[in-house]
Amino acid sequence: MKTDFKNGDYDTVGFSEDGRRLAYIDQTLLPNEVRFVETDDLNEMRQAIYLLKVRGAPAIGVAAAIGVYVLANKLMYMGYHEEDMFLQALQMQAEVLASARPTAVNLKWAVNRMMNRAQTCVGLGVDGIVDELKREATLIRDQDIEVCRKLGENGLEVLEKGQGILTHCNAGRLATVRYGTATSPIYLGQERGYDFKVYADETRPLLQGARLTSFELASAGVDVTLICDDMAASVMKQGKVQTVITGCDRVALNGDAANKIGTLGVAVMAKHFGIPFYIAAPTSSIDFSIPSGDSIVIEERDGDEIKNMWYEKPMAPEAAKTYNPAFDVTDADLITGIITEYGIVRPPYRQTMRELRDTIKREKEKANEMRGHE
Ligand code: MRU
Repeated sequence: MKTDFKNGDYDTVGFSEDGRRLAYIDQTLLPNEVRFVETDDLNEMRQAIYLLKVRGAPAIGVAAAIGVYVLANKLMYMGYHEEDMFLQALQMQAEVLASARPTAVNLKWAVNRMMNRAQTCVGLGVDGIVDELKREATLIRDQDIEVCRKLGENGLEVLEKGQGILTHCNAGRLATVRYGTATSPIYLGQERGYDFKVYADETRPLLQGARLTSFELASAGVDVTLICDDMAASVMKQGKVQTVITGCDRVALNGDAANKIGTLGVAVMAKHFGIPFYIAAPTSSIDFSIPSGDSIVIEERDGDEIKNMWYEKPMAPEAAKTYNPAFDVTDADLITGIITEYGIVRPPYRQTMRELRDTIKREKEKANEMRGHE
């Protein structure tokens, strides 16, 4: 994986040099330290996702895909040479990995895709299956890069030179392999002289906007202004924001979209001020199996993240209860459009999302056919 952070030539997640371990940037150390970590240990991988060392829906998906391959390779070296036993052991480990966080659909999507690939390779022998899993994980990583780039091109269509853009959380390069989702049009615009002015919400309680978005955009030379979450309304009222773009962790069939806690508030404010609100969503973040956002499981995290995490001393009384949902669901009617690698999906979502689902199905069938001819 590329690790030249200083010159901006890096990937957020990938394979280690020897190809046997998962490699990633430990995002909990940013912006003060850039450390690349490698592991082939199941618990370390699961913890890396749970503790947000690897975070952001697409990056979690790619990490999980590479993780499944790494675990498969390790099982083979441990002596699992019989396909049935190997697949059983791998399935159990894959489920542990998939349980790390509940909201971003990319995690389960990637693990399922890897395990389905393993099943279709039965008969090739364990070494054959492991080879195919490496190929599949590489494909998932490469597709993430390509999809984010396309998303950027599509997103750029709704932006104009010199605009103020507000974003929430980190749906940037650090949340994917490269480019990001919500930031992809910003990076492409930067290359083409669009001169955007970006406002990054700090994103309490884990500060992804402050620690990650403002860091990666500033490192890339983008004009970025960091604001506290409670300043967004005021900045909008002052006319400084013409478009809002955020990422998402899961989109339902009716267009409801789960993203970092606080996104719903941003969407409500954008509607109030008549500012278009877009969600950037690779189709790996769309869960066509759920009718609405009501079915999305929202991760609840430790209250310590609110009370203690960034302070030398606790900043709230021990007796105070906390409620710390990590995500919220933005209602479809607040979303102007969903920017995907296939184009921008707009209301009425119940119809346009079904059309998108059919397009993806056709593309998949075509890809499988091509694979069959290889
Ligand atoms: O808890 P996190 O940091 O994993 O939450 C990340 C977000 O909510 C992102 O906006 C989302 O995953 C999209 S990333 C392209």
